[in-house]
Amino acid sequence: MADDKSISDHYRHGELLPAIKAALVKPGKSIDRLTPADLAPVDEFHIGGRLATENLFAQLDVSADDHLLDVGCGLGGAARFVADRYRNRVSGIDLTPEYIVTGQTLCEWVQLQNQVALHQGNATSMPFQDESFDGGYMLHVGMNIEDKKGLFQEINRVLRGGAYFGVYDVMRIDPGELAYPVPWATDNSICRLADPEQYRQALITAGFEVSAVNHRRDFALEFLTRLGSKMSAAGGPPALGLHTLMQASTPVKVGNMFDNIVAGYIAPVEIIARKM
Ligand SMILES: C[S@@+](CC[C@H](N)C(=O)[O-])C[C@H]1O[C@@H](n2cnc3c(N)ncnc32)[C@H](O)[C@@H]1O
Repeated sequence: MADDKSISDHYRHGELLPAIKAALVKPGKSIDRLTPADLAPVDEFHIGGRLATENLFAQLDVSADDHLLDVGCGLGGAARFVADRYRNRVSGIDLTPEYIVTGQTLCEWVQLQNQVALHQGNATSMPFQDESFDGGYMLHVGMNIEDKKGLFQEINRVLRGGAYFGVYDVMRIDPGELAYPVPWATDNSICRLADPEQYRQALITAGFEVSAVNHRRDFALEFLTRLGSKMSAAGGPPALGLHTLMQASTPVKVGNMFDNIVAGYIAPVEIIARKM
């Protein structure tokens, strides 16, 4: 697909693993004694980070026997969090090769490589057998995917009947003109936002039942405001953070995202669904 390369180029860092390693070592962390929590500042690439992941998982029925699918897993932070907490297996898929290669090393650093497998590929055409997962989730991914119905049909194909699926994406709330760049797009050429009702309809058409749609605007604004205050008080960001991923463009991307949320144009939204 024409978009695939532009999207993975947008996310590509080039020297990501050495950058993460340097940022961990700087404040004195030892690579031999890391926990998933140590990596959370950089490997949870969505508004609210680990806090948002925990909030979504509190609404899903995960058990140790479940093999879960992480759609657009990025570096695999949520996958490691879940595998560590529930002692289950997670398979992630992501378009950006560097995220997968880096994420695999991060799994080894925290000894979760036997529970978490990360694959490079497109979420709209996955290399997984029909009905192979007991549940799944997607965190801040649909903003780059135009065909939401096709995406959810493909996810539905690989989930077992009755499997749960949680979405936490930035969605369109109002058609106002967005300020760019934002963390998922430098301009509108790879930005594919949809509104919560379009997501809900796409899920239903693909064979899901939707039990909740939770608007997370207030959470997002509080989280981002708190983060900004902490950084001002500390005189800058901590060694490891999403700026390790987004580099010099971080303040402008996060600032524009914040302004777009304040303007009411976009907001993160959770959707809880189940394959019928
Ligand atoms: C903002 S990051 C979120 C990563 C991860 N879910 C997280 O929360 O840390 C968006 C991710 O979606 C991935 N992505 C975008 N379009 C995709 C597609 N069609 N298939 C698979 N991954 C995709 C990107 O490569 C990127 O890693």
